[in-house]
Order: sequence, then structure tokens, then C-alpha cells
Amino acid sequence: MTKSKVVFDPFSEEFFNGAWETYRRMQEEAPVYYSEEYDFYALTRHEDVAAGFKDFETYSSAYGIDLAMVRTGHPPPQKAIIFMDPPEHRHMRSLLNKVFTPRAIQSQRQMVTEKIQKYLNAADPDRFDVVQAFSGPFPVEVITTMLGVPEEHAQQVRHWIDESLHREPGQVEVGEKGMQANIQTAMLYYDLVKQRRAEPRDDLFSRLIDAEIERENGEKTKLDDIEIAGFTTLLGGAGAETVTKLVGNAPVVFARNPDQWQKLLDDRGKVPAAVEELLRYEAPSQYQVRRSMKEVHLHGVTIPAGKPVFLINGAANRDPDAWTDPDKFDIDRDRSEAQNLGFGYGIHSCLGAALARMESAIALEKLLDFMPRYEVDWDRCKRVNMQNVAGWQNVPVRVLR
Ligand code: HEM
Repeated sequence: MTKSKVVFDPFSEEFFNGAWETYRRMQEEAPVYYSEEYDFYALTRHEDVAAGFKDFETYSSAYGIDLAMVRTGHPPPQKAIIFMDPPEHRHMRSLLNKVFTPRAIQSQRQMVTEKIQKYLNAADPDRFDVVQAFSGPFPVEVITTMLGVPEEHAQQVRHWIDESLHREPGQVEVGEKGMQANIQTAMLYYDLVKQRRAEPRDDLFSRLIDAEIERENGEKTKLDDIEIAGFTTLLGGAGAETVTKLVGNAPVVFARNPDQWQKLLDDRGKVPAAVEELLRYEAPSQYQVRRSMKEVHLHGVTIPAGKPVFLINGAANRDPDAWTDPDKFDIDRDRSEAQNLGFGYGIHSCLGAALARMESAIALEKLLDFMPRYEVDWDRCKRVNMQNVAGWQNVPVRVLR
């Protein structure tokens, strides 16, 4: 009997539920996968995905980083660092590196701890939905506080992001509601830039208004309103959804691996390692799409120029050629075996990684205090249907006493 050809559909229930078996088959049977249905290519082996992230000349970000954007063949209208290639990317990144210094992140520790604690203080130990009551609301508050978005808008910003990332099975393009949400988000940030220009404060908006960037002609100028609104919109999204997913995955993964939870209860010093393993085991952002800028020959397949190419870091993080026993969740694993691609790699690797690590570690610490023993209500767990981000929408638990 011949085996059926492997099919990877990033807009299917199978993807939303975690496509681990499909990834393994792609690595073995189709390391350069071609989707006839959507006309894209995909790389899943660790070696290829890491090389793809590094080779920005072949795999461009300037046409967007999701299928809907890249397949238009045009650069997206939004101005944001994540959609830039060098040299523009280099200039923007060096500007942002000055704003996102390790010290600036560390100075937020108190604020982050307070936000996290606030939600746990309000939580009911008998009926606690870890995503809805905790990992959903706190990260967006952290990033919007840093930006300087008034608190009353924080949760609204999150609902808009959720809306814009939501996909029904088979839906590639952002829907009508998602489009509206994007417009409202852009308008909110644009208004805030205007307000901060008139009245500076000690926040990221004001620092971005003051910052100077080197342009292609070597001239140094300030960012314009559209550039600042574009970047802050990106931060609102990138800084919230992903942390929500990582922290929301934790109660599920640890319930399935109780020995690992016990290790953390016994030794809190292992919390940072647990964050890294969560990031590897189920990367919150499963893939980034690029556009091939020239013909690529790899593993006997030719990728033509001008095609969307999925770099599936979620699969690479489970590649048996990179990791020993990759499907095992092991917070003590040897992390030097391979590069964890959960934060991407190369020039676009996550700008917020230090903040994300800090938020996730504090959140795990506080969860260990709040629910040292817990049981998950599996029947009421529900996953999100989103493009590129994977994780849970509901994880109801009961704290055991
Ligand atoms: C667990 C949480 C997070 C995960 C898994 C994550 C993942 C990623 C990944 C995979 C990329 C690479 C995108 C690409 O190559 O196209 C990225 C880029 C980025 N992330 Fe994160 N991220 C997280 C948290 C954050 C936070 C908290 C912030 C906000 C400060 C942030 C801001 C950014 C920005 C601005 C970029 C674009 C950088 C560039 O283009 O140079 N991320 N992130």
C-alpha cells in the first residue's frame, strides 16, 4: 500500500490543534514542502529554518510575514520593523535597541509583578480559566503601560488583536471584523502619537517621538507619525498575543507532565529553564512567512523566485536531528544542543525576548504559589483558531487543596 502524500494546511483544525505529526512527516518526506492548494513552500527541518531566518537576502520580510500579505507580491502598506529588510531594518533596529535596553526592561519588573499579582488576587481558585482570567489580560496591560496607552484601552486593544488574527478553517485573508479592528487600532495609536507630541510623558511613545533614525541617504531624521503608529501597533500585538500563548500553554503541558511541575515546586531556580522549554516545545508563534527573492535549490526541489515560503520554527523546535527526544517536555534538557527558534533567529529575532522571558518567569512563579496542585477541566479546554499563533483560548482549572 502506498502512503498518502503529506498535506500541511495552516488554515485547518489540524493546524489549530497542533500539527506535530504532520511536521514530522514533512521533515522526513518533504523537507521542502509545496502546497498545491495555496501555492506556498515550507521548510521544517531545524537546519533549513535557521538558515532561512539568517538569509534575509533570499527570504525577504519586506512583502509581509503572513500568507495573505506575501502572496499579494506587494510590500504591505503598514510601516513596521518586522516588514523591513536591511538597510532600513538595520536603522530601525538600532534605534529600537536603544529604547529596549536590558536596563529599561528590568526597570519594569515591579510593574509587571503588580499586573500579574492583580489578576491572581481576583481569581477564584475553584473556577479559574488560566487564559481568560490571567494569561490573556495581563501581557497586554504590561505592553500598553510601557507604551503609554491609557489603561481603559488596554483590554480593547487585545480584543482587536484577537479579532485580526482569528481565522475560520480555510480562511487565509483577514475577515471584515478583523479589518475593522485593524483600522480602530491604527486610529487609537495615531491619536496617541498626536497627543504625546503635544504633551510628552515618560513612556515609549514619547521616547520614539524624540528618537532619530538614519535614513537611506545617510541623513538623520525623527520618525513620523505613521512610523510611530506602525511600530506601536506592532508592539501591542507582538507583545501580547505570544506571551498569552506561552503562559496559557503552561497549565496544560505541566498537567500532562506532572513530574516537571513537581521539579519547579521543589526548585524555583528552574523557572527560567521551564520558560525556555515551553518556548521550544510549543512555540507560540509557529511560523513566519517570507518571500523568495531568487530561485532556491534545496533537497532536490526548486523554489521559484517570488513565492511565499513558510519558515516553520514550531516544527524546527521538534526536529529529532537537532534535539534528543524532541517530543519530550523536559525542563532539564541540554539547551546547548540546538538553537531554540521560538523567538525567531537572525536579524528579526524577537526584540521583546527579554521582556517576554521576564513576564513568563514571573507568571510561572506566581502560578506555582497560586495553584501548587491543580486539575484541568479537559472537557472545557478550547484552542484558538489563529493564523501563525498557536495555543489555548480556555484552560479552566480547579486548585486542589
Ligand atoms: C513568548 C513571547 C514571544 C514570542 C514567542 C515572540 C516571537 C517572536 C518571533 C518568532 C519573532 C520573529 C519574527 C520574524 O522573524 O519575522 C519576533 C519578532 C518580534 N517581536 Fe516577539 N515574541 C514574543 C514576545 C514579544 C514581546 C513581549 C514583544 C514586545 C516588546 C515583542 C516584540 C517583537 C518585535 C518588535 C519583533 C520584530 C523584530 C524585528 O523585526 O527586528 N515580542 N517575536
